[in-house]
This record gives sequence, C-alpha cells and structure tokens, in this order.
Amino acid sequence: MDKLVCLGDFEREAKVVLPKAVSDYFSTGADDEQTVRENSSDFKRLYLRPRMMRDVSRVSLGTTILGETVSFPVGIAPSGMHMLAHPIGEMGTAKAAEALGSCMCLSTGANVSVDDIAKGAPGLLRWFQLYVCKDRGLSRQLVERAERAGFRALVVTVDRPEVGRRRSSIRNKFAMPTHLSYKNLEGLTGDLTKNSKESQYATIHSMFDNSLTWKDIAWLASITSLPIIAKGVLTGEDAEEAIKAGCSAVYVSNHGGRQLDGVYSSISALPEVVKAVGGRVEVYMDGGIRTGTDVLKALALGARAVFIGRPAIYGLAVGGEDGVRKVLEILRAELKLAMQLTGIVDVKEIPKNLLMDEMRRSKL
Ligand code: FNR
Repeated sequence: MDKLVCLGDFEREAKVVLPKAVSDYFSTGADDEQTVRENSSDFKRLYLRPRMMRDVSRVSLGTTILGETVSFPVGIAPSGMHMLAHPIGEMGTAKAAEALGSCMCLSTGANVSVDDIAKGAPGLLRWFQLYVCKDRGLSRQLVERAERAGFRALVVTVDRPEVGRRRSSIRNKFAMPTHLSYKNLEGLTGDLTKNSKESQYATIHSMFDNSLTWKDIAWLASITSLPIIAKGVLTGEDAEEAIKAGCSAVYVSNHGGRQLDGVYSSISALPEVVKAVGGRVEVYMDGGIRTGTDVLKALALGARAVFIGRPAIYGLAVGGEDGVRKVLEILRAELKLAMQLTGIVDVKEIPKNLLMDEMRRSKL
C-alpha cells in the first residue's frame, strides 16, 4: 500500500484486485453514469481563493455532528455488502473509522450485524442507515436492534423508491454470493433470510417500501428516540419537508449516481439545500469526494461534514481495515494541508468567500 498516495490510486488498485462483477457493482452508476462523473468533476469547477500569512502552524480539524465529537469532518457513507470487498467486511471499515475518530453509517444491507459492530468497534460513532420496509414491524425491529446496539442516529434513505438501472449489474447478472448474508435482517419476524441465498438480493430490493412519504418520518420518530437524518435530499423543497417532518439533519446525496442519472451533482445541489435549511439543522453531503480540497469546498458551501462511499470500499478491497484507515488518513492529511494553504485554521470557521465559481468567475 506504500505506493498508494491518493484515493484515485486506491480505486485503480481495487479494480485490479476485485473480480470484475464485484468491481462493476461498486464503481458503476445508473444509466449513462453522467451523474457519477459529474459528482467528481463538478468539484473541479469550483476554485479556491486562498489567503496568505495567516499563521497556520496549528490547525483544528475536529468538529461535532449532531452534538458528538469527530476528529475530522469526514465519515463513511452507508454501502452494503462490504464482504464482497474483503472477508473482514464492515468490521474492517468500522475499526478503521473508530481508530481515526470518524463516524460510520452502517447500511441495512451490511454483512456484519449492528451487535457485532458494537462489540468490535465500541468507541465508534455509529449511525444506522435504514431502508423502511413495507413490513413496518420488520423496520421497527431493525430500529430497536440498532438503538440497543448503541447506534446514535437513523439515516433514512429517501432517494430509493426503486433501484436505479445499473447496466453492468444487469449484464453481469450480479447477485450476492451465497456464502454472504444480510446480517441485520437475520432473525427478525418476517425474516427474508429464510429465502434461498440466491433470491436474497432480489428479495431485499422488493421488500423496501416505495409508498414512503414524509409523513412516515413521524411514524419513525414515534418508535425511536434517535435523531433522524434524511439522506438523498437534493432540493430546497425537500429540505423544508424533512425539517417539517422532524428530521434532525439533512444529508445531500444522489446515492453516488446510482439512482437517477442526469440529476445534478451533490456539490451543485448543496448551496440550494443549505440556503433552504438556513441553519435550522445540520447539513451533510456525499458524492464524488476524492481529495482534501473537495472536502474543503463542500464545507465552504455549508456542509457540516461529508461522507465517502466508494473510496472506503476501495480501501477495504486493497488492504482490509488498514486500507480504509489509509484512505481516511490521506483525506485527513489532504484536508489539513488544504486548510493551511488557504489560510484556514479551524474547520468550523471556513469563510464563505473561499470559493469562486468557474462559470461566473465571481465569488459565490
Ligand atoms: C451505496 N450507497 C448506499 N446508500 C444507502 O443509503 N444505502 C445503501 O445500502 C447504499 N449502498 C451502496 C452500495 C454501493 C456499492 C455504493 C457505491 C453506494 C450510496 C452511498 O451511501 C453514497 O451516497 C455514495 O456512495 C456517495 O458517493 P461516492 O462517495 O461513492 O462518490
């Protein structure tokens, strides 16, 4: 891993070590993948306006999210089936995030259970990503299980009423291998893991509720004391709905371009959402974060913290727990350097005039 010095290196290396169908599953997006590409490339349309001579001998990267301390504002976005990347699965991702004082959001579709994560990474700030099921009893059990296991927030994914059309997965006839399972769904009433392993992948996708509306957030709030975060918001209108529904935070995301292709990049959606939220709740974002300057740009546009999806998986594929740790360390080091070179000493105090928009050639 010594030769891997940026997140792009990890992506290239992961594509070498992973079987093609798995690598395709992780890396690709919906339809023509315009949104996958623009999630990253739109960061490059934003230019930094650095200030000089600011005494950057000490910079502070620590912050809080929903009142809990993180050592730097980069967490792990939820993604399922980490055992496809490495036998240690989500346990490796969790331990790496714990070691770095970061936050991890565990997917409903994880191969490691909430209880095992709690035991294996007790000091981790852990959130649970929830796909609300048609069977509300099943969702309730999932939520209770996560709450008992010390998960501190529920991240409700709102951008997946149906699964996006990922062409390579269709071509590859991609399915979860039979030796893996969705550990969080095991043993629940209405247990789908009783179905054959072959059909689990299809079953899990059909069990999620596509009739979900903002009103269902109130039901969720009635069965849990955990704060609820709406993940997948891209408009000011939906940010407003999320707040009205009782969400404690809004998470800007387009699911890494895996759902609706042609939707704008997360970074370009961020200003509209931040404006609509108007400081009432925290705003997070993911999608296309690959460098420390990307993190800085998202923070400058009003994100309290950002999350990485694929880069963590690539780290896991290349080096297990150590690989994820190195990915996080690279981003942390790059963020620190970007702050020093732009004259910023505290990650919580990033000036709004840090950025210029390429198109308008003016301050944002
Ligand atoms: C995801 N994502 C996702 N989101 C979610 O809410 N629940 C999930 O189970 C998954 N699963 C998942 C699997 C894989 C393989 C990927 C790549 C992504 C979306 C994820 O949380 C996040 O929004 C994006 O990955 C962020 O974009 P980047 O960082 O991958 O560019």
